[in-house]
Amino acid sequence: MSKEKILITGSGGQLGSVLTEALKDKFGKNAVIATDLRQMENYEGIFELLDATDAVALEALIEKYKITQIYHLAAILSAKGEQNPLQTWDINLKTLFNVLEASVKYKIDKVFFPSSIAVYGDMATKSNTAQDEFLNPSTVYGISKAAGENWCQYYFLKYGLDVRSLRYPGVIGYQSLPGGGTTDYAVEIYHNAVKEEAFECYLKADAMLPMIFMDDTIRATIELMEAPKESITIRTSYNLAGVSFTPEEVVTSIKEHYPNFEVTYKPDFRQGIAEGWPSSIDDSFARNDWNWQPKYDLDAITAEMITQLKKKYNLITQ
Ligand SMILES: NC(=O)c1ccc[n+]([C@@H]2O[C@H](COP(=O)([O-])OP(=O)(O)OC[C@H]3O[C@@H](n4cnc5c(N)ncnc54)[C@H](O)[C@@H]3O)[C@@H](O)[C@H]2O)c1
Repeated sequence: MSKEKILITGSGGQLGSVLTEALKDKFGKNAVIATDLRQMENYEGIFELLDATDAVALEALIEKYKITQIYHLAAILSAKGEQNPLQTWDINLKTLFNVLEASVKYKIDKVFFPSSIAVYGDMATKSNTAQDEFLNPSTVYGISKAAGENWCQYYFLKYGLDVRSLRYPGVIGYQSLPGGGTTDYAVEIYHNAVKEEAFECYLKADAMLPMIFMDDTIRATIELMEAPKESITIRTSYNLAGVSFTPEEVVTSIKEHYPNFEVTYKPDFRQGIAEGWPSSIDDSFARNDWNWQPKYDLDAITAEMITQLKKKYNLITQ
């Protein structure tokens, strides 16, 4: 039996719902305590409602389950965050401080904090953006992640807290729906393709962004958390790359399967956000420190998305 007791905040989200299952597979059903603001429907395992802005409630769960690791996923994402900037800042930072403070107080072994490519702004070199590029994020989400990364490093340096972090690119998966990010189109487009519906894209056809398949995302997260402590040289957040592509390239890849798939382009405010972000990422620190290697390129993502979503929709219509 695993000695670990892992608490996840934001378990019901796009990433959380998949990571929670992966951690249950690895450590056992009773080792994982899923939490979220909202009930997770049909969830099998231990679940607790938790507003992560509530430090007292968080600490009560840490005590109740004798938590050893925390994956802090709860956040307001880039596009949604712009609707209420001050509230986004409050939620993203308050929840992180609650997790960091409680982790020091209860001597939590390891903490995971997801950052994002949104930490970069228009002063960063767009192509193959380096780990130590200048950070001038333009969204409140990006500002909250850049600050969050630095707070993680502060808790490591000041208190020795073993907090680890990845700057996720846009995550593409069939298991769950995205929660208000700028890269959501790259999930939604596959749902439309499989349902043989036209798609209206809110980014321009040539908006190249770094993306990553869900399986690679989950594997990267667990590999980082399993890596020996001595090999972790980045205590802000590791650049992480999967594959970079434009909406036009996704359409070409989908048309191999659905030649009649129709897409129109109607850029909105999210195009502005995307223009501030890198087009590709240099993740050599992750590759060197803990042997990171992505497995999925665009065509492999397309094939897997289509296969899995076809199954999903067939099941729903049965
Ligand atoms: N999805 C991506 O492409 C992507 C890219 C970069 C970084 N990230 C980061 O990964 C993490 C997970 O992202 P996601 O895509 O699953 O997000 P999501 O929006 O799908 O899910 C976030 C979850 O957090 C919950 N939540 C919000 N406020 C909360 C609070 N106060 N207390 C408890 N729970 C709360 C929501 O109910 C939701 O279930 C986030 O920190 C996000 O910034 C995601």
